[in-house]
Amino acid sequence: MNTPWVRGLLAALLLAAGACGGAGAAADAGQDVSLDTRDAVAVPDLAPDDGPATPAELFQGPDWYRHAVLYQVWVRSFFDSNGDGIGDLKGITAKLDYVASLGVGAIWLSPFYPTPYVDSGYDVADYQGVDPAYGTLADFDELVAQAHARGLRVMNDVVFNHTSAAHPWYVQSRASTSNPKRDWYVWDDDGAPFPFLCPPGDPAVFGATGWTEDATTHTWYYHHFYPGQPDLNYENPDVVAAMQDVVRFWLERGVDGFRVDAIGTLFETPAALSPTGQEICDADPRTFAFCRELRTILDGYPNRAMLAEADGSAPYFGSGSDTFHLSMSFEVTVNLLASAAAGDARPAIKAWSRLSASLPEGFQFATFLSNHDRPRVTGGVKDDPRRAMLGAALLLTLPGTPIVYYGDELAMRNGSDVVVDVRDRSRTPMPWTAGPGVGFTTGTPWLDPAAGSDVANVATQEADPRSNLNLHRQLIALRNRLGGPGTAPATELPGLEGTPFRGFVREEGGARLIVIVNGHDTAGEGTLDLSAWLTREPEVVASFDAPALATETYASWTLTMPAYGFVVLAVKF
Ligand code: NOJ
Ligand code: CA
Repeated sequence: MNTPWVRGLLAALLLAAGACGGAGAAADAGQDVSLDTRDAVAVPDLAPDDGPATPAELFQGPDWYRHAVLYQVWVRSFFDSNGDGIGDLKGITAKLDYVASLGVGAIWLSPFYPTPYVDSGYDVADYQGVDPAYGTLADFDELVAQAHARGLRVMNDVVFNHTSAAHPWYVQSRASTSNPKRDWYVWDDDGAPFPFLCPPGDPAVFGATGWTEDATTHTWYYHHFYPGQPDLNYENPDVVAAMQDVVRFWLERGVDGFRVDAIGTLFETPAALSPTGQEICDADPRTFAFCRELRTILDGYPNRAMLAEADGSAPYFGSGSDTFHLSMSFEVTVNLLASAAAGDARPAIKAWSRLSASLPEGFQFATFLSNHDRPRVTGGVKDDPRRAMLGAALLLTLPGTPIVYYGDELAMRNGSDVVVDVRDRSRTPMPWTAGPGVGFTTGTPWLDPAAGSDVANVATQEADPRSNLNLHRQLIALRNRLGGPGTAPATELPGLEGTPFRGFVREEGGARLIVIVNGHDTAGEGTLDLSAWLTREPEVVASFDAPALATETYASWTLTMPAYGFVVLAVKF
């Protein structure tokens, strides 16, 4: 019961119950985090007439993954180019100008490979192809070329742990106990299936015990997830070699990196054979050996990066340069949501500080508010777009490499239609316009759009300078103008006692970022002394009309912020 979706629901419930600061790490006012500038990057002048620094200018070096904002695209739901109701690769290409307009540096594509879709594409039947519903390899190549032409990088999702039961490897493996591919999967040919050290995926979603009897040979195969996803046997070197070839195949086609699915589940250890006990669950040393080989392959190509779905677990950091570049942190996410709901950055700062205490140089957390396994951020804040935006402001200014889940920039809500499982609620069609097909398709969408698309759509929000969409653009553009501050910690902004506000400061690459939020559901007023922080006139991005700041007001800036308002100030020093 501990999948990200269930954890997300739990967090949402806790938040709805008003236990905001108690979700994950509790709010802690006393967090003392020193400022540093570990990761110096060139910072363009913050002169008022500077245009936004483009990702093409900023994120071309090997450390792009530490500075860029990532954008996660659910391929089936982004844009349908041919009216069959299913989003496709050509549809994404058609919308790349929109993606580039957000200022993000890379897109992460959900699996688009041939699939029976029992786990929404995470059941891959051919690792080197494109599902006909999504297009062709030529469409993929065109997408990569067009993305690169706009300075956008492309990351594929790679699913190592399991294939689809329809994959030819598995079809052969199950054909007989003597088939040469028999040992490519995890079979129990001897009788009763035995328990593994790591329990299988959440039964509430995957509805399985981990073992299913195969009708052909009347023996049992192991599947950590759905029965249609048999686990590959990574003790077999041929499997390792085949999957390494998959990685090379996409690198040769020009992809800039991978989001690596469920990396902790690669190896199965029978509980009875465990040498070290429960602690190796999800952190098997053989997995790290596999990851190091993967990194060596990636390092053979310039400027590539890989992102682990590994829940921020320390062993995946490696030395900082021998395994993953990035790892998701679900714990930061839970605390970001708590911070968004409460309008108080301290839970997120505290979680990040605790988790990042031992981050090796080169490695970084990827932070996010929602994704395809979790409820939409709006769900965690009672469908309140102001708090969803506040969450985004924290995501985009606190440490880490932020991932914006498609549609979250619109404060899109959870849907109610379900085709595969409950997670479809956060996988609904991208609303480009108001109206029945939400501008996603001229046909019938494969999944009903979420309610609220009269406001949560691109066309409407493009026209409103204070929309979630335009505030995302402004915040990401500001972030880019600062060189994409990803690594420096945040420290609580002192001097806000006696005001209804909370805030934090970060310094990285010669720039300082000051963020002040009003976490109350009523407007608040306070007079701030910012003279210690402002050495010159700052750039300002705010969710309201912030009063002008001039040298004479640095020591006494009277601010009236609307409910759940925020203001971000940036100065170069
Ligand atoms: C994690 C993915 O994010 C999820 O959607 C999927 O169901 C499992 N891994 C299995 O591939
Ligand atoms: Ca289509």
